[in-house]
Amino acid sequence: MTDLKNDLYLRTLRGEKVERTPIWVMRQAGRYLPEYRATRKQAGDFLTLCKTPELACEVTMQPIDRFGLDAAILFSDILTIPDAMGLELVLEEGVGPVFNKPIRSQADIDALGVPDAEDDLGYVMNAVRVIRQELNGRVPLIGFTGSPWTLASYMVEGSGSKDFRRIKGFMFESPKSAHQLLQIITDSVIEYLKAQVKAGAQSLMVFDTWGGMLSTENYQRFSLDYMAQIVSALKADAQCQDTPIVLFTKGGGQWLEMMADTGCDGLGLDWTVDIAQAKHRVGDRVVLQGNMDPVVMNTHAPQVSEQAMAVLNAYGTHEDQHKGHIFNLGHGIQPFAKPENMQALVQTVQTESGQFHP
Ligand code: CP3
Repeated sequence: MTDLKNDLYLRTLRGEKVERTPIWVMRQAGRYLPEYRATRKQAGDFLTLCKTPELACEVTMQPIDRFGLDAAILFSDILTIPDAMGLELVLEEGVGPVFNKPIRSQADIDALGVPDAEDDLGYVMNAVRVIRQELNGRVPLIGFTGSPWTLASYMVEGSGSKDFRRIKGFMFESPKSAHQLLQIITDSVIEYLKAQVKAGAQSLMVFDTWGGMLSTENYQRFSLDYMAQIVSALKADAQCQDTPIVLFTKGGGQWLEMMADTGCDGLGLDWTVDIAQAKHRVGDRVVLQGNMDPVVMNTHAPQVSEQAMAVLNAYGTHEDQHKGHIFNLGHGIQPFAKPENMQALVQTVQTESGQFHP
């Protein structure tokens, strides 16, 4: 861990006093970058890109090389686990992810098994190993997973959804089966994250993209409890307990205290959360990550710098009673974002954030 040339991100996650605010950006490798589009074209399709470690490594490195971000994130997708469970993921142009074999019956759930992380998902672990080698200690590598609730949503809906009528109907009508499904996903996620750490991931993030669609009570039962199991399992594993875990529930700003109770190290905030209030709500328990509105990245450099300063100012000065701040957007950078705006963002955060770390 100490062979890192830039360990600002990990020191921040450990709650140490640092010289400035680290920055990385969700979906930092993606379609807004022409070099990403070129590599994807070379791969032929998105899944081949994910499943070819050398190409996954190439696109992981692109934003690091171009912008000098403070952390790299494994290039993959949250839907690798259901794909390995046999649901057959396809990414349809203009539609998004679709499963050929979605969960439609109790028999479908009974037939699911926990994928072997080194065998069925070996391409992900190989990508982690190739990327760590290529990074050569420049910046830390973030591994990730989808939350059980978010994965179950895609598995039951069969694709993205606006109203989540299948997964919510299933949750209300057959809660026992829903818990059975969530538990097998949770067991799979735990094995998957442990394998990522053993392969070289230096921190972990859980993307709960759809937890915010639930009522508070159902969020606790159907999303948060399973994320808490994941955190506990990782913290109980001798090889994983020092690897920080960040939980991100999009639309979950009202639940930060409960999320911090899981024992995670950090919380991702979407742009609707008042980061100044969040800082006081969580105190010294967790680091906060976020939370500029991603749409700002589609405008121009002056607006980007202005909004980045607004987030830095809102978090304010780093004091002992708070654990720290990692700059990020409140959700993934969009395909329409301008690469030069990423340059402006990184430059603003890296040159201006020192004043908040007296
Ligand atoms: O952050 C990174 O740079 C790492 C790579 C990453 C991807 N997906 C690459 C990707 C990560 C961390 C994800 C996570 C992911 N995938 C989430 C959780 C985060 C979030 O955005 O809320 C979700 C919900 C998915 C599922 C998924 N994968 C969707 C909805 C889509 C289609 C949407 C779109 O942007 O087209 C994907 C495909 C996908 N995953 C792309 C990328 C770069 C676009 C693929 C392409 O067309 O080249």
